[in-house]
Amino acid sequence: MSAEPHRVLVIVGGSVAAIKAPSLLRRLHEAGAEVQVIATRAALAFVTPLSLATAAEREIASDDTWFAPRPDAQHLKLARADVSVIVGATADLLARAAHGLASDLASATLLSVRGPVLWVPAMNEQMWTHPAVQANVATLKSWGHHFLGPVEGAFGTAGEGAGTGRMAEPEEIAAAVLALPPHKPQATSRTPDLQGLTLVVSAGPTREYLDPVRFISNPSSGKMGYAVASEAQARGANVILVSGPVNLPDPPGVQVIKVESAVQMHDAVLDAAQDAQIIVMTAAVADYRAAAPKSEKEAKTAGEVSIHLVPNPDILAALGREKAGRVLVGFAMETHAGVERATLKAQRKNADFILLNYPTQSGTAFGGDDNQVTLVRPNGSHAQWPRLSKREVAVRLLDEALQVYMQRTGA
Ligand code: CTP
Repeated sequence: MSAEPHRVLVIVGGSVAAIKAPSLLRRLHEAGAEVQVIATRAALAFVTPLSLATAAEREIASDDTWFAPRPDAQHLKLARADVSVIVGATADLLARAAHGLASDLASATLLSVRGPVLWVPAMNEQMWTHPAVQANVATLKSWGHHFLGPVEGAFGTAGEGAGTGRMAEPEEIAAAVLALPPHKPQATSRTPDLQGLTLVVSAGPTREYLDPVRFISNPSSGKMGYAVASEAQARGANVILVSGPVNLPDPPGVQVIKVESAVQMHDAVLDAAQDAQIIVMTAAVADYRAAAPKSEKEAKTAGEVSIHLVPNPDILAALGREKAGRVLVGFAMETHAGVERATLKAQRKNADFILLNYPTQSGTAFGGDDNQVTLVRPNGSHAQWPRLSKREVAVRLLDEALQVYMQRTGA
């Protein structure tokens, strides 16, 4: 199977075939896709929310969650998927989509999706061949929507539904979904879903001076953190960017605090974090500093020298100790045993998730414009994202952070 797409929206319709949805969800999950599920009210008569959520390994969306008093436009967030698939697609759901209705979460989301859409219908043959249904199918096809099946075979209650109307099997659906070309998000189409939130982002390297002209540092460019700050600002957040020394322009509309050392970054981040709901630590903080930096330039000597280093404060861990409901996101660079090490790091630092990358991959991490990361949670669950621009990584990171925030606050 292809490695893409990765964000798949699965809409489950109210057909008896809805019972096959958990099997599809498991297959997509195993293939590395990040799956979001919408179950229509009728679908939940056939399959339980718990079995869908268990297979998807995340909460599912339904009309109950859509109509719940919450500030986000759930249909718009769900519509950001790379591809969408409707399984157990009923005549009614096809009609709602073909006529542009937005009377429930599934149809409203379908009005907003921009990526490819795959319909997997399941209904009795008489219904499927009815001109009304076929006209709706033709309308959807004229918009570029894809169809898989229905296929020949028994449908629903034995004896009642033989003929063409049976839904394709989960394995075939998963293969078809993963073969769809994923949607590339447009940098311009954003919802202000972070309005009212304050984000603190750290970026770049730190410099640990040995004397006034020499320091220990690393090649971090700051691009990842600056991308997160710009994206969060574009989505309506109040953003404070605490930046080590980098060669990047200040992102418009973002409050930038420039620091050099890890201790300065620690103080600035902890101070700004007081009023923040989400903190993203992308900075490559130097782990050690000179115990006694010289106040004057040291002349070289003929012999060997050694420098006494002491550990720097761990900023993310300090934030984790005083978490108070804030969402904490870290980054980790590992050369081996990445997921295990990142899981332990997330646990130790009390982070909600860590984006793990491998500095050894060319074109990613330090200095590059792209990044290939794996999202790792403290419980060890993880999902690999495709190679993306740092801006696209920022988009997904903020989606995830917002989701954690909403779950935590019940907003
Ligand atoms: N971090 C931090 N303060 C430090 C070191 C790291 O806040 N003094 C943050 C980084 O910004 C990153 C995360 O912690 O979000 C992981 O950093 P990393 O250097 O990989 O972790 P360490 O704890 O230093 O682990 P190790 O060097 O042992 O791999």
